[in-house]
Formats: sequence, structure tokens, C-alpha cells
Amino acid sequence: MMATLPGKQYTLTDKEFLAIREMIYNSIGVNLTESKRALTISRLSRRLRELQLKDVSAYLGYVRENPGELDTMFNLITTNVTKFFRENHHYAYLVEEYLPRLEELAAAGLVPRRLRCWSAGCSTGEEPYTIAMVLHRYFKGHKNWKIQILASDINTETLQKAREGIYSKDEVEGIPYENLKTYFKLGTGPNAGFFKVKDMLRELITFRRINLTSAGEYPVGEALNFIFCRNVFIYFDKETQQRVLKRYHRHLMEGGLLFLGHSESINTVSGNAGRWRLLKHTIYQKLG
Ligand SMILES: C[S@@+](CC[C@H](N)C(=O)[O-])C[C@H]1O[C@@H](n2cnc3c(N)ncnc32)[C@H](O)[C@@H]1O
Repeated sequence: MMATLPGKQYTLTDKEFLAIREMIYNSIGVNLTESKRALTISRLSRRLRELQLKDVSAYLGYVRENPGELDTMFNLITTNVTKFFRENHHYAYLVEEYLPRLEELAAAGLVPRRLRCWSAGCSTGEEPYTIAMVLHRYFKGHKNWKIQILASDINTETLQKAREGIYSKDEVEGIPYENLKTYFKLGTGPNAGFFKVKDMLRELITFRRINLTSAGEYPVGEALNFIFCRNVFIYFDKETQQRVLKRYHRHLMEGGLLFLGHSESINTVSGNAGRWRLLKHTIYQKLG
């Protein structure tokens, strides 16, 4: 275990901030605007102390010599705030409108009894596990439905926590009691006081590390019914949003849905990113 330099305060010169901004923007599309300057240095300082480096320039040199450090940097820089049943109206829309329609189409033999979706930017897993709870509860008793949820993030630490599916009492606060009782078990031993996702939920989800701004196709397989990409676009500039949106359009099936975060919209970026219809606040439908 490396000793830290306790109490050492770091500053960020214009040149250093620019270099970090470029590195982050070119790798993961996150746009560190001037307003993120204080946050950036405060998040990186702990790592600099750990590495016993004298300043941010030394850290930039370290990153260049140790490309693996970039992942640590992404882990520190990305904002991962999330919670179970966040923006609940999206789940209500699924249950009240989308899923009944899908069932009708399946009953008429027009679509297979299969649902494929993606939580892109899933952070510590609360979003995909919420989707899983909602879908599992909805399709209970309809055993012949196949549900596949892909959950991805760039942050390796949050993704690890998502895979483990272990949450504190505070973290499970937003989960309705019935769901908590059905889908979680109380931890024992070192996990005493924590709640662990049961296998019946866990097995609906595949976790993968996906960089939304990487080149090439997203490794998501066949066409998707819907994509949740909530509270991720706010970190991207318009150009990056447009590129990602265009790719989402390709990966959704005809009539598939895109759910964005409460302060996000595609209105100003959709021009060159396929045709979309706004169904409800922050819920968009792919048009052909
Ligand atoms: C604020 S969290 C949103 C979590 C969840 N979607 C929600 O709304 O509660 C944003 C997530 O986007 C991820 N992210 C940022 N840039 C990314 C990129 N280029 N590729 C994949 N994930 C990214 C971050 O690591 C973070 O976990």
C-alpha cells in the first residue's frame, strides 16, 4: 500500500487544465467546461497524493507513461450519481403504455415474445436493476417472455459495484417495500446490513464496459426495444450527443424508445441523427 502525501494541496494551471480537458474529451467525450475546474482538481488530488507526485504536470507525465492510468482518471472524473426508481415516470410509461402494446403485438404474432434493452451509462447499477424489477414484475406469469438487459458504463469501479449488486440501507431507500422483499436478500457476514440483488434479477442483466464515444459499432447485438441513456448527455457537447444519438437510432428497432434524463433533450441535436418523435417529456421514439 502506497503512502500518501497527507494534506498536500494541488493547484491546476491553465495549461494543465487544458491538457486534462483534451485527454478526457478525446477519450470519453466528457466535456470539462471551465465550471468543472475546481471539481477536477479536487477529484484528482487524492490520486496525486497517493502517487506522491509534486504537481499535476507530473501526473500528466505519469498518465502518458502508464496508459492504464487513464481508466483511473475516468473513474475519478466521471460523475456517477444515480438511484433506484429515479425519474419514475419512465417506468410508469413502460408499464402503462409500452409493455401492454408490445404484448398485444406479440399476441397477434407480429413480434417475438422477447424484449431487449440497454441501460447506457448505468453507473453503479441502480438503473438496470430497476428496469429488471419493473420488467420481471410485469412479465410474471408470462413465463414465455425472454428478457435481456444490457448495462454498460465507462467507469470500471462503478461497473464492478453494479456487477456485485450489493447496496446499503440508504441506497435501497427508493425501492418500494414489495420489490425490496421480492428481489433482494439481506447480506450476512461482511455484508450484514446490506442488501444483495437476488439471482432471478441479476441473471436478466449483462454488464459490459462500453465507451459511448469509441469508434465502431456498439457491441449490443440485435435491435433493441429501448435504450435508457439518462443523465449522460449532460456531460457531452452537442457534437458528441449527435454522434451517439445517430448510433442509438441504428441500434433501436422500428418504433423503439429512447429515454433521456430530466434536463436533457435531443431537439437541438437531432438534425443529422435520424428521425425521432417526442412521445412524452424525455421519451423519444425512433421513426424509420
Ligand atoms: C450521472 S451517471 C447516470 C446514471 C444513470 N443513468 C442515472 O440516470 O441514474 C452518468 C454515467 O455516465 C457514464 N459515462 C460518462 N461518459 C461515458 C462514456 N463516454 N461512455 C460510457 N459511459 C459514460 C459515467 O461513468 C456515469 O456513470
